[in-house]
Amino acid sequence: MKNFYPEQYIRDNNYQINHNYLKEQFSDCDEILLKIKEVINNSDYTLGKSVDEVESLIAKECQTKYAIGVGSGTDALMLSLKVLGVGPGDEVITSTYTFYATVGAIVTAGAKPIFCDCKEDYNIDVDKIESKISAKTKAIIPIHWTGKPCDMIRLKEISQKFTIPIVEDACHALQAEYFGQRCGSFGDLGCFSFHPLKNLNVWGDGGIIVTDNKSYSDQLKLIRNHGLIDRDTCLQFSYNSRLDTIQAVVAKHLIENKLLHITKTRIENAKLYDQFLTDIPEINVQKRLPHNKEVFHLYTFQAKQRNKLASYLQEKGIDAKIHYPIPMHMQPAAKRFNYKKGDFPVAEKLCASTISLPVHEYVKKEAIYYISNLIKEFFK
Ligand SMILES: Cc1ncc(COP(=O)(O)O)c(C=O)c1O
Repeated sequence: MKNFYPEQYIRDNNYQINHNYLKEQFSDCDEILLKIKEVINNSDYTLGKSVDEVESLIAKECQTKYAIGVGSGTDALMLSLKVLGVGPGDEVITSTYTFYATVGAIVTAGAKPIFCDCKEDYNIDVDKIESKISAKTKAIIPIHWTGKPCDMIRLKEISQKFTIPIVEDACHALQAEYFGQRCGSFGDLGCFSFHPLKNLNVWGDGGIIVTDNKSYSDQLKLIRNHGLIDRDTCLQFSYNSRLDTIQAVVAKHLIENKLLHITKTRIENAKLYDQFLTDIPEINVQKRLPHNKEVFHLYTFQAKQRNKLASYLQEKGIDAKIHYPIPMHMQPAAKRFNYKKGDFPVAEKLCASTISLPVHEYVKKEAIYYISNLIKEFFK
């Protein structure tokens, strides 16, 4: 099996309007490189000042007391489960409509994923969670899919009623809000990813966990760094998943200079799509709720003849993508959990009918108009 090479992005860049925007976004990399030079001059390579600064900035962003930088969004989820004491023999409830990492983190922590269907809004169906709870349930992981907040009021009610903690998979949802409160700050722990295609993206991998719980924060700081309290004292044999200091420099630069613009532009672009696409009867544009601030990691909708529409747009130079065609319970990796087709009909329907369009800050308004017209043409 080969490692990923830049070709994966170059191939995408054959489209005129692309999902991937990394070249444009980091065309001003000189400023960041100067800041990285400082790290090198100070030999400040592991954790250190830049990681501290990002943690403070993200805690402030998320309105939480603590933030703990780790190696990736996947590690953020897995380490969160670890501090909750989740391990072999335990069950964790999550939506089958998610990215592999949510389930991977549960399985890596040693627990069994218990899948739940989602609603038409792509988020976990809160009305179906209670029937999945057993004596073995040790956590619930809702995913704010594409940056659309889950029903956190109901989720908190369930969490309190059964004393089961919530770990928010907020990897798509930095700066998203539910009734004015930031996603990631509702659960016992909230997890974010800095992967290159996330709204806040670094030059490789990175992630962060937010929490108001000091004990969780202290434990996370231990277990992300071999359990060390100093160079010679290990309190708990554990793991190495530090947020890389060089990636922290990139993250800090983006938080301070670009994050607001990134979020604002994605929201504006999505609004335009909504406006242009709403009248097309073959398309199901998502309902926007006034108490939600969605941040549009992706712009998705359901469409009739989805696969044909995707190919048609791709032929016209538009990087229309499918996120994702197969729900988690139908993945080969989930075979041992004995789910079958038909177990989660809403997620299965969404996987068969959903399409995503480029929505990032480099998609021009004219491009949105152009893409929307192409879609209208297609259905004529
Ligand atoms: C919903 C969701 N959760 C978790 C992750 C994992 O993040 P990372 O790639 O930083 O490990 C991703 C990454 O794409 C994701 O989409």
